[in-house]
Amino acid sequence: MHSRRSGKPGNVPSVTGFLRVRALAKINLDLRVLGLRPDGYHELRTVFQTISLADTIDIAFTPGRKISIEVEDGLGIPDNLAARAARMALAAMCVTGRVQMRIDKRIPMGAGLGGGSSDAAAVLLALPVLAGRRVELPELCRLAEQLGSDVPFFLLGGRAVGIGRGSELFPLPDEPSLPGLLVVPAVHVSTPEAYRRLSPRLTSESQQNKIFSFQSRTWNGVGREPACNDFEAVVFEQHRSLARLKKRLVGAGASVAMMTGSGAGVFGLFRTREEVTLALDSLGSLENQKAYRISLVSRQRYRSLWWGALKEHTTQKTWPPQSRYLRCPTTV
Ligand code: C5P
Repeated sequence: MHSRRSGKPGNVPSVTGFLRVRALAKINLDLRVLGLRPDGYHELRTVFQTISLADTIDIAFTPGRKISIEVEDGLGIPDNLAARAARMALAAMCVTGRVQMRIDKRIPMGAGLGGGSSDAAAVLLALPVLAGRRVELPELCRLAEQLGSDVPFFLLGGRAVGIGRGSELFPLPDEPSLPGLLVVPAVHVSTPEAYRRLSPRLTSESQQNKIFSFQSRTWNGVGREPACNDFEAVVFEQHRSLARLKKRLVGAGASVAMMTGSGAGVFGLFRTREEVTLALDSLGSLENQKAYRISLVSRQRYRSLWWGALKEHTTQKTWPPQSRYLRCPTTV
């Protein structure tokens, strides 16, 4: 991490502050879609889990009279969520200035891995630290939810149950990290379209069954036994290759193999790294798809990655990270 900031604790800095942070991807270890809500979203029961695959974001903030936000992501992503997050964070802090971001995208887009959401959450966590302001967690969660249903999870990391839109979160205990294999085929799945195809199949009877089954899976310990992703039913119908991929991961010894989010990423969890190597070999040539070795990242590890990245700019190991340049501890 580099820093071009000079500033004594207690002073709001007036020169450019710079940070490099990693925005981790997620997988869904379980995902049930219960039904359509009055607000047009679907009621979910899901288990989120952060994984080692990550984007890297360089973010610089220079206080000034005007707001300007620049994002370079190498892909020209229209209406980049990170830029929207920066704008919202500045408004929440009542701060103006220039935000410059460079995102090195490693998390495949449209694969159910939450890459754009994680980038946005990273900006919500990092920008207050650079600006010397504090934004409390409930306010960050409120901003995150406006950006997208998955964004609040990345403010917390580790393993968590998501209910409602997926943005109401409850932590699950950290478990020993398992090695895994993530395969992302060159198939594009539109999330709204996947919801539209699934929605007519949802009944009130199936809702009850799903709630009980989700509950018992969660109590038994997620990630150890096969779980459910409701989107598989509709996405596998359209893309048979994804169903075959899941079967191959099970055949290669994965204790859990399933699609993440609304796809198209499919992951397998294994007991050892050697098993992952064997699975990778057994998949043979992976034309039109990319394979990543992954590991599950616990909440404790997630937070220490953040504290490590922010350590020159923060005081203690508080969550959310708190800037050492705070003008007043209660300033929002
Ligand atoms: O919240 P987000 O912008 O990520 O959602 C993208 C789309 O996915 C929404 O516009 C909606 O169509 C669908 N969605 C849903 N129910 C959820 C989350 C997302 O219907 N719980």
